[in-house]
Amino acid sequence: TVQEHAPNPAAGDPGRPIGFGRLQRKEDPRFVRGKGHYLDDIVLPGMLHGAILRAPVAHARLVSIDTTEALAHPGVLAVITGKDLQALNLAWAPTLSADVQAVLVTDKVRFQGQEVAFVVAEDRYAARDALELIDVEYDMFPPVIDARRALDPGAPVIRDDIEGRTDNRIFDWEIGDAAETEAVFANADVVVAQEVVYPRVHPAPMETCGAVADFDPVDGRLTLYETTQAPHAHRTLYAIVAGIPEHKIRIVSPDIGGGFGNKVGIYPGYILAVVGSIVTGKPVKWVEDRSENLMSTSFARDYIMQGEIAATKEGKILAVRTNVLADHGAFNATAQPTKNPAGFFSIFTGSYDLKAAYCKVTGVYTNKAPGGVAYACSFRVTEAVYLVERMVDILARKLEMDPAELRLKNFIKPEQFPYANKTGWVYDSGNYEPAMRLSMQMAGYEDLRREQLEKRERGELMGIGVSFFTETVGAGPRKHFDIVGLGMADGAELRVHPTGKAVVRISVQSQGQGHETTFAQIVAEELGIPPESIDVVHGDTDQTPFGLGTYGSRSTPVSGGAVALVARKVRDKARFIAAAMLETRPEDLEWEKGRWFVKGDPSAGKTIAEIAFGAHGTVALPEGIDGNLDAEVTYDPPNLTFPFGAYICVVDVDAGTGHVKVRRFIAVDDCGTRINPMIIEGQVHGGLTDGVGMALMEIIAFDEEGNCLSGSFMDYLIPTAMEVPDWETGFTVTPSPHHPIGAKGIGESATVGSPPAIVNAIVDALTPYGVTHMDMPCTPARVWEAMQGRARPP
Ligand code: CDP
Repeated sequence: TVQEHAPNPAAGDPGRPIGFGRLQRKEDPRFVRGKGHYLDDIVLPGMLHGAILRAPVAHARLVSIDTTEALAHPGVLAVITGKDLQALNLAWAPTLSADVQAVLVTDKVRFQGQEVAFVVAEDRYAARDALELIDVEYDMFPPVIDARRALDPGAPVIRDDIEGRTDNRIFDWEIGDAAETEAVFANADVVVAQEVVYPRVHPAPMETCGAVADFDPVDGRLTLYETTQAPHAHRTLYAIVAGIPEHKIRIVSPDIGGGFGNKVGIYPGYILAVVGSIVTGKPVKWVEDRSENLMSTSFARDYIMQGEIAATKEGKILAVRTNVLADHGAFNATAQPTKNPAGFFSIFTGSYDLKAAYCKVTGVYTNKAPGGVAYACSFRVTEAVYLVERMVDILARKLEMDPAELRLKNFIKPEQFPYANKTGWVYDSGNYEPAMRLSMQMAGYEDLRREQLEKRERGELMGIGVSFFTETVGAGPRKHFDIVGLGMADGAELRVHPTGKAVVRISVQSQGQGHETTFAQIVAEELGIPPESIDVVHGDTDQTPFGLGTYGSRSTPVSGGAVALVARKVRDKARFIAAAMLETRPEDLEWEKGRWFVKGDPSAGKTIAEIAFGAHGTVALPEGIDGNLDAEVTYDPPNLTFPFGAYICVVDVDAGTGHVKVRRFIAVDDCGTRINPMIIEGQVHGGLTDGVGMALMEIIAFDEEGNCLSGSFMDYLIPTAMEVPDWETGFTVTPSPHHPIGAKGIGESATVGSPPAIVNAIVDALTPYGVTHMDMPCTPARVWEAMQGRARPP
């Protein structure tokens, strides 16, 4: 099953490689030379600078704000408060989850780091200095920090701005058949239960968030440069929120220094930059610093999951069940499709053929930063995979079975695809056993287990962790998935210029994933022109077609499909033009990569470049065929794609200090047709590194007063090359049956699949200490405590 190029049966083309394989990234020459053009590189004539005053406390009534001194500070042009925004009806903005969020505090501070006032000044220093001159009086309330206490009777009501609100409950959502699941559990030989916590973490992109707003009062046009993963959706939302007509708004998303879900939402800072520009009549730049990013922008996870799994004593898994408490912070600003308040968490049934499944998720408000974004994952797939893969390991321990064998015994079989699971998903395709066996073979699984036994006898702590995941990526279809009413589909436009050079315009937004390369490769494959002759344009709403943007590994499944289809549309059109040029009928022509030729006379043909010239030339074109070689499509995928992978992690734990070393990590991924194996490997390496971070060191923690304890990279640790091993990657290829080129997403597979493999390995290493579970992050102190039988929740 291992092969360098995938066949492309979906395109009726078995055995032909897709794309140009390991093409070097077209965007890298500018990145490696330091010539990328990021938000902070944008400098407009007369540009001013904004800075945000943030609340030092987590829960307090705003008594008064005095801005007199700040306004008098040299260089300051404006100080904007919540009251000013109220007058413009802009004090509150809709979130991506049918809630509202304060742009600037008007009534009450609801988390530490919340936006209180905005200073606009001639330079960044003056703006920041003036923040210290704003005098704010707060009347303190007790904060709600522990989500477990949020629904206690008498808990302070955080969202008293919402009429009639008497508690902190956001939603209760359930899926699956509770009664059927209960019946399976009641009759099962074995049931194991475990509380599994996925702590609050942060996407922490290298580049923080920022905006440059340029409002032209003469023609009422707003140009907004923004760090955004979804420029088109943002434009529509700004039109709705600010009342600026949509055709007068241009969003430009320049090079993005990492998004990972952090740059999906609309932050108060973006809106404030716009207000600042309207108020001063000049362009205004606002760029947050690292602490602002960590303390106030969208966090991820924060799920407390009560997991249960039922099985026969022979190890046939029958059902999974879970009750989840989801901490959404002070505003429900989580980014997920409207009908999915817990995102795609219902994929917690994993890769197993089950009789029943049921889950209930309760979302609550707490006095913490709002968000709940999918940090490098498709809408809560990470939490789901972590839960089920921990539960399967706990079951394996209970049954005294090998965790890899237990998984192999329970996989959905290849002939069961498309597989309808018990929570409403239809897995498009899969072939799990070969991936699992390949990872075991690459790892030398049997030898590792032998080595572990020997080491245990010597008192050394070595652990082997397995995880197997299935993801749900590539939302739409739009009939099922929308964000604030916008259906999840993506557009593509392709123009082939007279000389055969092409420009493809896409609605998704690269944040480092290499779209300029891979999308050119798709067009190149479909039209037979070299990828270097194809430019990929993205990140500017004036230049690209509408679409919902890049997150949840949806670019290739959705936009990649759009690009393949638009190229095929051009190819179909080219046939008519070629026929006119060759003075024959279109049905007499045959396609070979790059040219149409006369059936039975291969010498009589026209290449795409010749046809493009012909389209713009003097040949009389058939009726209904325009004089160009351009096309556009919007692709609404019929289903999501379901990539999967088998991961094996080997750790050594220092029995004296609790320090965990990830010694080896084997990752076998299946993302269907592989466009660019080099880019795929890069995506996997990055995601695995993310996984090490979450498993071992990352947590956004708070003290009892709601002070964020993780506001810098001194406290919020992220992994470097020092903490990770040389990744060992492999792959199988199971194309998506419905995707135009058979491709599934890959961008986030490794972030999703790696944390359970690492934690499973650590728990496995700690078996001699009787440890059956521990929560992330597995820092040395926490591992050591677990060894003493004192595991504590994060
Ligand atoms: O949405 P996002 O770009 O983050 O994720 P993705 O669609 O999984 O793609 C990540 C990168 O891997 C892009 O450059 C893709 O085109 C590339 N890729 C690939 O070469 N082959 C695949 N089957 C999937 C993705």
